Amino acid sequence: MSNQLKFVLCEPKKSVRESLSKMLSSMGYLFLEAECSSYTALNDAIATSIPDLVVIGIDDDYAQALAVIRKIHGQLPDVAIMAVSDRNDGPTILETMRAGAGEFLNSPVEMSDLAEAVPRVCGSKINKSHNSTSRVIAVAGVTGGVGSTSMAVNIAAYLAQDPVNSVALVDLDLSVGDADIFLDCIPEYTLIDVASNVSRLDLSLMKKSMTRHESGVYLLPRPVSLLDNEIVTPDNLGRVLSVLKSAFSHLVIDISKSYSTVDLVALNFADHILLVTQLDLPCLRNVVRLLMSFDEFHGLKEKVKVIVNRCNLQSNQISVKKAEETIGQAFYWQVPNDYQTMAAVRNNGVPLVMQAPQANITQCFMNLTHSLLDVQKTTAAPDAVAASGKKQWLGFLSRKS
Ligand SMILES: Nc1ncnc2c1ncn2[C@@H]1O[C@H](COP(=O)(O)OP(=O)(O)OP(=O)(O)O)[C@@H](O)[C@H]1O
Ligand SMILES: [Mg+2]
Repeated sequence: MSNQLKFVLCEPKKSVRESLSKMLSSMGYLFLEAECSSYTALNDAIATSIPDLVVIGIDDDYAQALAVIRKIHGQLPDVAIMAVSDRNDGPTILETMRAGAGEFLNSPVEMSDLAEAVPRVCGSKINKSHNSTSRVIAVAGVTGGVGSTSMAVNIAAYLAQDPVNSVALVDLDLSVGDADIFLDCIPEYTLIDVASNVSRLDLSLMKKSMTRHESGVYLLPRPVSLLDNEIVTPDNLGRVLSVLKSAFSHLVIDISKSYSTVDLVALNFADHILLVTQLDLPCLRNVVRLLMSFDEFHGLKEKVKVIVNRCNLQSNQISVKKAEETIGQAFYWQVPNDYQTMAAVRNNGVPLVMQAPQANITQCFMNLTHSLLDVQKTTAAPDAVAASGKKQWLGFLSRKS
């Protein structure tokens, strides 16, 4: 598992500080160590704990801000410093950089500016710590019981067989999720423990809160009580997923069927969205509806891969060809029906790769997983796409106009 970079943010103006804090915290490899509303507070924060990065707004008191930058740079030359200002005249930029700032950003700062500037100013620190190859797979079913949890669990378990990988499985089916049953484990902590401690969430707390299954998968299960569901919000889930992404090489998320704003955060976070359907009319109608809905959000539809599960379940099933015509696209993958094996997997709480490694259905899931990873290699890294500003997971509610 990799470590995040600690950053301290100092910006006396509250609205600017909040906006910067939200954007910086959404970058999986950054961890907010302290937020300061004055330059004196920044001095105190640095004296308590040395961060990797200081982001400082210099407009409130330019002279004092420069003095602090000079002091930090002089005493702690390894700390990267990024200055933020409304001013963009040459002398100000020059003076600030000479004082020790490695980057100078103009307000209002955009996410895409930060995504480019932070790696520049942090340099090799990021390469050492950021899990830039981490991949996120969200599995979503078009209706209840189509096999999405089976798919999420078995992809995660297969990925975990490779000792190079570290794999987390998040059960976002907050009310009736059953990923813990599929892995036959009784977790001590749940998503609630991390979501409600999000302000002090770091890798060690995260790891402690997860249950390691013998397959190697780390599970973050759904809440125990229904009453706790509302503790999980789009904001804190974003933070939880960022920490997970920086901690694990692969993140598999079992999405709920409610397609709530919380689910949308996860869908926006994912590199691949596996939309699981079966070959019947209600399912296919939902595929069409969901694809149309996804099209209203920036960058979602492009990540969707429609997967048909339980092919050949019944002789009177709608044919694959007819179904593809109905949904207007080819299925990305076809998973055969194998009730006996899948029932055993679920009832024994043992993933396919351990229970029935030679079964056709196991091979099918393995090949699907390989295919997803191969596709990944040929597409842009998620961070790069995020930097382009097109995948605005922070602003997931910003629908296309
Ligand atoms: N390819 C398959 N062949 C046969 N049975 C399957 C297959 N995939 C899943 N199943 C079975 O279908 C049932 C539902 O699977 P699963 O719980 O994974 O679906 P789900 O979409 O997560 O359901 P829910 O809506 O309850 O979350 C289980 O009994 C599982 O064993
Ligand atoms: Mg399920």
